[in-house]
Amino acid sequence: AVNAVEPGPLTGKHVLVTAGPTHEPIDPVRVIANRSSGKQGFAIAAAAAQAGARVTLIAGPVSLPTPGGVARIDVETAQQMADAVEEALPADVAILVAAVADWRVEPSSAKLKKADGPPQLSFAPNPDILAILGEHPDRPTLLVGFAAETQDVVSNAEAKLRSKKADWIVANDVSGNVMGGSHNRIHLVTKQSVEDWPEAAKEDVARHLITRIAQELE
Ligand code: CTP
Ligand code: CA
Repeated sequence: AVNAVEPGPLTGKHVLVTAGPTHEPIDPVRVIANRSSGKQGFAIAAAAAQAGARVTLIAGPVSLPTPGGVARIDVETAQQMADAVEEALPADVAILVAAVADWRVEPSSAKLKKADGPPQLSFAPNPDILAILGEHPDRPTLLVGFAAETQDVVSNAEAKLRSKKADWIVANDVSGNVMGGSHNRIHLVTKQSVEDWPEAAKEDVARHLITRIAQELE
């Protein structure tokens, strides 16, 4: 069989996951990047597939293997990620874990030369994929964002929940230094409640989140 996964709590559901950083080009050889490893998003895609879902994983530039049973689409820029997400709709669940660059620059078509001096980069805003899905005619039934915060973790997450019209924000307390690490400390912020989860390995956070999602869809 193409999909040899046992039936599970998400069988018959389409789960869309974004993961990793985006790269915004400056010129043909340089990009603006960020430190997202993609580990948490890939672990969530793997857990969703293990729960029986059809999974589309839209990944920025990362060096991670594709989890079993997951259809992966590789992109570089925020705009490409936004286009790939729209193309993958409809989905029952979207979990936007990617660290999307908030800004892009108009890239130079030729390599910038050192002798020309420091470039004057001018930035334009990128599309906000979570906010777009929040208002989309094909809005996923359950729309889940992530937010890495160093302070006022829950109140910042609640503000993002409202402004982007998400159902849940998985608030990741990064006041320690977990970016690129193996563990996360999560507060699951919904419209009704805040759940404080114990610090756990990213794989365990992924399984717990997928279990909560399956409960919610019941
Ligand atoms: N997100 C997105 N598209 C963007 C920016 C963010 O889909 N252009 C998503 C992220 O994948 C995440 C959520 O929005 O699920 C929150 O991202 P975050 O960067 O924390 O929120 P911002 O609104 O960009 O606020 P800030 O970076 O100022 O904290
Ligand atoms: Ca941001």
